[in-house]
Amino acid sequence: LEITWDITAAQKGGFPHFMLKEIYEQPESLRNTITPRIVNSLPDFTEDGIDDEVFKNCENITVIACGTAMHAGIVGKAMIESELRIPVNVEIASEFRYKEPLINEKTLVIVTSQSGETIDTLEAMRLAKRCGSKVISIVNVKGSTIARESDYVLYTHAGPEIAVASTKAYSVQMAAMYLIGCRLGLVKGIYSEEQAKEFISKLLGTIPVIEETLLQADEVKTVANYIKMAPDAFFIGRGMDYTLSLEGALKLKEISYVHAEAYAAGELKHGTIALITENVPVIALATQPAVYEKMVSNIREVKARGAYVILISMGDEVTDTQICDKHIRIPKQDSLFTVFAAAVILQLIAYYTSDAKGLDVDKPRNLAKSVTVE
Ligand code: G6P
Repeated sequence: LEITWDITAAQKGGFPHFMLKEIYEQPESLRNTITPRIVNSLPDFTEDGIDDEVFKNCENITVIACGTAMHAGIVGKAMIESELRIPVNVEIASEFRYKEPLINEKTLVIVTSQSGETIDTLEAMRLAKRCGSKVISIVNVKGSTIARESDYVLYTHAGPEIAVASTKAYSVQMAAMYLIGCRLGLVKGIYSEEQAKEFISKLLGTIPVIEETLLQADEVKTVANYIKMAPDAFFIGRGMDYTLSLEGALKLKEISYVHAEAYAAGELKHGTIALITENVPVIALATQPAVYEKMVSNIREVKARGAYVILISMGDEVTDTQICDKHIRIPKQDSLFTVFAAAVILQLIAYYTSDAKGLDVDKPRNLAKSVTVE
């Protein structure tokens, strides 16, 4: 008997890289994170031991995290503020820990960390606790320091994430934020039971939508062959799309070494548009109907300057095919939930670009999976 594969290849389950495997695991990871917290179609943290008192007491929220986990917090902020009208502040842990924080016992602090060991996040959490705030951590690794030291922990059951660039952990962190938002809305009486049920059903609905989105991987691959030649790329969006574009740019930088920036589309004209010249890739996220026409105007602005526009939109609302060079569609759904499917497209763009450049996708230079030193 001759064994032609090694143990690592076996663990990759037939995928060439852990990152791609983890991108494809997202429907399952989301299911594992969401379903144990649903009782009678409503969000329920009884099993996690989270006392509803923390939600009743909460007047404002501060999210503390680093990197991708911080970006999940920014998506959570957009969702919670628009739905619940409760102010959410997102703090970069390495900044927060050296501040005199503006939090108190009325602040619910949500600490988000895949590893549960990031030193800046841990120290920032300790500071938040000294300020009298209650802390819910959103953590993937069981028994990690942040999980142990927080008042409450909501484990994201994403399974081990091996690739340095975070993908499935990001999706489940967003899902955990959505669950917290929904429970908070229910406890505070902002959501009726019916509204909370509808929210949960839409959250669960993102799982088949992601499965459908993954079928477009080959389509996304063609875009990567273009981006790989570019020194710079820009991600633009409005509202929820903007919050997601931050993660899209980070992912591309991390593993493909293409310089990428995320911009609120309306802010482009205040400087960055000077960098838009012939063939510069612009990844335009336009999944939000309320600002769709505004996005189209911004896309026309960059297109007029020669940008290569990759448009990610929902359903078939695009009437003028001239506005983009490549059009990737995600299935139609409530605009509050498009971030999950659109995230998958952005992850695939980064993955295929890195792979097309022949780079070490799973172990990008200078980066570590868990940063336990300052
Ligand atoms: C490192 C990783 C990132 C991660 C960040 C925060 O920089 O490379 O992927 O987002 O740390 O890690 P954490 O484990 O706290 O989520």
